[in-house]
Amino acid sequence: MILVTGGAGFIGANFVLDWLAGPNEPLVNLDKLTYAGNMESLAALRDDSRHVFVKGDIGDGSLVARLLGQYQPRAVINFAAESHVDRSISSPEDFIQTNIVGTFRLLEAVRAYWGGLTGIAKDEFRFLHVSTDEVYGSLAPAAPAFTEAHSYQPNSPYSASKAASDHLVRAYHHTYGLPVLTTNCSNNYGPFHFPEKLIPLMIVNALAGKPLPVYGDGMQVRDWLYVRDHCSAIRRVLEAGKAGEVYNVGGWNEKPNIDIVNIVCDLLDELQPRPDGKRYREQITYIKDRPGHDRRYAIDARKIQHELGWKPAETFETGIRKTVVWYLANPQWVQHVQSGAYKDWVDTHYAGAAAS
Ligand code: NAD
Ligand code: TYD
Repeated sequence: MILVTGGAGFIGANFVLDWLAGPNEPLVNLDKLTYAGNMESLAALRDDSRHVFVKGDIGDGSLVARLLGQYQPRAVINFAAESHVDRSISSPEDFIQTNIVGTFRLLEAVRAYWGGLTGIAKDEFRFLHVSTDEVYGSLAPAAPAFTEAHSYQPNSPYSASKAASDHLVRAYHHTYGLPVLTTNCSNNYGPFHFPEKLIPLMIVNALAGKPLPVYGDGMQVRDWLYVRDHCSAIRRVLEAGKAGEVYNVGGWNEKPNIDIVNIVCDLLDELQPRPDGKRYREQITYIKDRPGHDRRYAIDARKIQHELGWKPAETFETGIRKTVVWYLANPQWVQHVQSGAYKDWVDTHYAGAAAS
């Protein structure tokens, strides 16, 4: 058994689906179901008894302790977080509570559980913390990409809260010996991505005939990683990573935002042309920049490649095509997110699944 937190979010749901698609053991999925948690993303697992879903907060120490005692997981993978930079600018409080206090409480419960293990169970236990490249701050245009040794220079309430959680995880290893692994990855994209983030927002707005809002000059650079590649990296780090180590995970796909938006528009022109025959690029609208907007992120993913033999399987061209095709094939998922009906879906389909 493994315990996953935040497994109803974008990356967590992809991870849970991939994990249970293979010959892996069952998992407990602890998720608070904030606005970002969507059980509809996990609909394929509804009748799969290997998926134990528990609605709850990583900051609820007694709940986490009870789950650890009951299921005796060999590993905990922490995806749970508030994750959207723009929301962290307008209301940072939730970011402090979940990303910092929540991670602290989770670590405390895990430390107590791990302290009670013996023999191989204790030696082989792992706590894997999923973090972000945003903790490293912003890069100048020609600066080398972030390595694991780069200093922490977070610039938004989101990245500052993730940086704090990374420091706590590191401290629990150095102070208490907890066998932790940390992964810092770049921007993910792919299926089940909440349409408040750049790529899914552009797809759904384009199809709805709405403006495509590009912040500032659109020349901010991100390093895009297909979400299922990220999931395979996490599985590899869990399997072979060295306790106490940090692994950067990236897609080797640095691109300015405006290029991303243009690529999405061109794919939509090909796959679902506008009824009026015009191009989706005509919907692009430059708007006021995000405050404190980081100019460039880029991951140097050589350590995970050299030490663990992992590298991404998708190029941006293959991954973005899969993503656009997925959104075109799943209008109901998008519609339920936009209307809020995905929350009702939880009540209807998962009544009784919540932890008591
Ligand atoms: P997401 O916002 O889509 O999902 C977060 C999930 O955590 C949701 O299901 C939510 O309900 C749950 N959650 C929030 N607070 C909780 C709490 N207190 N207790 C239990 N569950 C809670 O986020 P995501 O994009 O899937 O990101 C997952 C992790 O990966 C985060 O830690 C994020 O910082 C990190 N990350 C994401 C990206 C990216 O591009 N999406 C890039 C780098 C790192
Ligand atoms: P986002 O998907 O929010 O991820 P992050 O801020 O964690 O990198 O944004 C990716 C980039 O796209 C970022 O530089 C901000 C920009 N962006 C826009 O230009 N317009 C938008 O509407 C959004 C949501 C993001």
